[in-house]
Amino acid sequence: MRLVEVEDYREMSRLAADMVEREVICRENTVLGLATGSSPLGIYRCLAEDFQKGRISFRGVKGFNLDEYVGLERGDEQSFYAYLKKNLVDPTDFCETNLHVLDGMAENLVEACEKYEKELALAGGIDLQLLGIGGDGHIGFNEPCGYFPRVAHETRLDEKTVQDNARFFVSAEAVPKSAVTMGIGTIMRARKILLVVSGASKAGILCRAVTGRVEPCVPASILQFHMDCTVIGDREAMMELRGKGVKIENAEKI
Ligand code: GLP
Repeated sequence: MRLVEVEDYREMSRLAADMVEREVICRENTVLGLATGSSPLGIYRCLAEDFQKGRISFRGVKGFNLDEYVGLERGDEQSFYAYLKKNLVDPTDFCETNLHVLDGMAENLVEACEKYEKELALAGGIDLQLLGIGGDGHIGFNEPCGYFPRVAHETRLDEKTVQDNARFFVSAEAVPKSAVTMGIGTIMRARKILLVVSGASKAGILCRAVTGRVEPCVPASILQFHMDCTVIGDREAMMELRGKGVKIENAEKI
């Protein structure tokens, strides 16, 4: 696991976008795992700007979304599908038919998750998986529990996750109570993982995930076992890790 400290959110987004673009440029038909939420939003903004400047093209690139709420139509502006359409598909030449999304509206969610895993396998697996981290250490919507889920599945959302995500809805009551998500195994099968973390509110959980025991009550701790995982954090997010005896690189080195 590589830990890279940057000054702020803007620099985190720029450095992460550079990593995404390197992956897209250096490979044919790159397969990206796409996170949503506040942490990766700056990355998508950088990718859209670079596309507008003619620096990058997403033709042939496939995307698999990390998670989706159950019960939200794709057109609902709070759906993660809508987020990815607004922030990646619409402002670039990323082809919407190359965006594979967990179907939170499926009658049979088990079958929908199985179909998603099959599509991912057909695409050859994920080359680079973008991640954020939830306040309780969740990745995707893999909530703290007694095991690491192996494949895409439906999950109930913890109250803390509902409250944390309520900022995007008219009220906490409007937040769906369950979701479909890549499993921990799905995420860990990605060839590369890039976790972006910003702000003092994530410093504690990031430090626990990186330096604590690997256990399913802190889902993100599993990333310690990944062969090629990079964490880019701003100064505030990295503040508890500093002084823990872990190697932290600065941005110039990557
Ligand atoms: C949500 C999403 C995760 C995301 C996390 C952190 O629950 N399901 O994919 O990483 O919360 O979001 P943010 O980056 O907005 O703090």
